[in-house]
Amino acid sequence: APERNLPRLNVLLAGPRGFCAGVDRAIKIVEEAIRRYGAPVYVRHEIVHNRFVVESLERQGAIFVEELDEVPDDAPVVFSAHGVPKSVPAEASRRKLFYLDATCPLVSKVHREAEQHFSRGRHILLIGHAGHPEVVGTMGQLPEGTVTLIEDAERARTTPVPVDRPLAFITQTTLSVDDTTDIVAALRERFPDIHAPAKEDICYATTNRQAAVKAIADRAELMVVVGAPNSSNSLRLVEVAERAGCPKAVMVQRGRDLDLSLAGGLRTIGVTAGASAPEVLVEEVLARLRERFELAIEEVVVAEETITFKLPSALQTEGAR
Ligand code: F3S
Repeated sequence: APERNLPRLNVLLAGPRGFCAGVDRAIKIVEEAIRRYGAPVYVRHEIVHNRFVVESLERQGAIFVEELDEVPDDAPVVFSAHGVPKSVPAEASRRKLFYLDATCPLVSKVHREAEQHFSRGRHILLIGHAGHPEVVGTMGQLPEGTVTLIEDAERARTTPVPVDRPLAFITQTTLSVDDTTDIVAALRERFPDIHAPAKEDICYATTNRQAAVKAIADRAELMVVVGAPNSSNSLRLVEVAERAGCPKAVMVQRGRDLDLSLAGGLRTIGVTAGASAPEVLVEEVLARLRERFELAIEEVVVAEETITFKLPSALQTEGAR
């Protein structure tokens, strides 16, 4: 037997962590589409921002593409959880493609808010990160020029905004709760009459994962965030950990990515996972840590999540497409 005289390491496991209801649904849509319609099923953009998830769906028969023109006419196509500009389903309909929309219902909710503001003649300020597919999708719900992107508090104060119409703001669902509070405060100061969302656009999963990290950040000397560098909510967890007093936070995609020397000499570390990272990758990280440490794991749960989303109606009943 190997010698087990390893140093002890306390691990605080953030709860909730990992998959949210929107990610779970999006993956099920791809799996169910493959089961019903057979491989290949095309997916426009990474269904969720996680290579491990994408590669396991590829093994089941999914083909990932960036644009619709890479999809043949006779294959089903799934749109990713982040949402798509209106032009995408429009083009799919024009080509008579069979498509399934895996846009998270909480992103669709923001799309509908945007449309309502627009129909009431309001100019919209979207708080979000330029280039993220959710932002591209949300801006693409409305004609060009009717939504202005606001990336931070500084730009909330300075970005030119039309003055001839009422204003409303909406947000990306995976932002930093604290940054968004600052940005909204800056907007309200500049535009006291701006319309706000009835209920937070930042989703429950983003909010809970950030709260869970905050709850353990000051006890952890290192925070390991399982996630992907293109995953907005995972990136935010790294920032939240550091700002909440954790001396160092690192993102890893797989267990093998974790540099074990970072934990050398530490007593306590935190582990969490972004909303697109499956629990098996958290287990990989723990297995990796066990190569060098005797782990004492404590789970710190700040919220229970029970929310689930139904699959699109096309996948709820048996039948031909
Ligand atoms: Fe939806 Fe929030 Fe997850 S918007 S996909 S529940 S991170």
